[in-house]
Amino acid sequence: MFISFEGIDGSGKSTQIALLQDYLSAQGHQVHIFREPGGTEISERIRSILLDAKYDVNAVTELLLFSSARSQLISERVIPLLEKGEVVILDRFYDSTVAYQGFGRESVPLDQIHQINEIASHGYVPDLTFYLKLSIEESIRRREHMEEDRMEKAGKEFFERVIQGFEFLAEKEKRFKIIDAKQGKEAIHEHIVAEVRTKLNMF
Ligand code: TYD
Repeated sequence: MFISFEGIDGSGKSTQIALLQDYLSAQGHQVHIFREPGGTEISERIRSILLDAKYDVNAVTELLLFSSARSQLISERVIPLLEKGEVVILDRFYDSTVAYQGFGRESVPLDQIHQINEIASHGYVPDLTFYLKLSIEESIRRREHMEEDRMEKAGKEFFERVIQGFEFLAEKEKRFKIIDAKQGKEAIHEHIVAEVRTKLNMF
């Protein structure tokens, strides 16, 4: 089973991923978590370029670097695990590229982003995508005391467009499950578990 988590910075994805991993492991599943960009040596090296605030990265270069990191992660780690029937949870996947590089940066038209996403994911599509929905104000408040990486320095209008991107996907993609990220972590976890159980029963 292939699950991805999406949401703007500070939406609590990591906490929920850890809770879901504990739940699924207790049920006897082998669960693997990877963060994007990252998860392989090559992808982590690309990540360090992408998040380094000292670089001025062209928007198309940025799109292609996120996609390159993804291609390596999917081919090297994710596909072999899915083929063994194990659970893979991704902390972000190509929906972030639609939201950040498509809507946020307006790097290239959306149909081209979709094509690049299909190539970089080697045709793999998540069974479920949890979108932890949070307002920009709440995201900024939660990140107040944290140092900003290159992406987080992009400003409020950028994040407004990113949110529009996630909203667009939430309407379009059936696999998208919208979750109010302002709820308590237990309530969010229960919602996620209910969706995962429904999906697992269908397998
Ligand atoms: P990270 O520290 O993992 O952020 P978070 O904890 O919020 O997930 O940094 C990843 C950053 O990269 C984040 O700002 C979102 C951005 N990003 C893109 O712009 N495009 C992408 O395709 C991906 C996967 C991430």
